[in-house]
Amino acid sequence: MCWCNGVTVGRIEESAACGNTTVEGVGRDTRAGTGCGGCKGRIADVLTGAAAADGTPSLTA
Ligand code: FES
Repeated sequence: MCWCNGVTVGRIEESAACGNTTVEGVGRDTRAGTGCGGCKGRIADVLTGAAAADGTPSLTA
């Protein structure tokens, strides 16, 4: 999912489950999105999916 830092979708979901519900929060936790930034859209998609699965309000950012 994040090629620059070798972060997997599973890692993003895990971070989201730990309360990192923004692209920035996930980036601080996993470093995903802190390289070229090209994966930020994909991170947002994963967060939207995780939030929907969780019943927590979905994010548009
Ligand atoms: S692919 Fe994630 S920062 Fe470059």
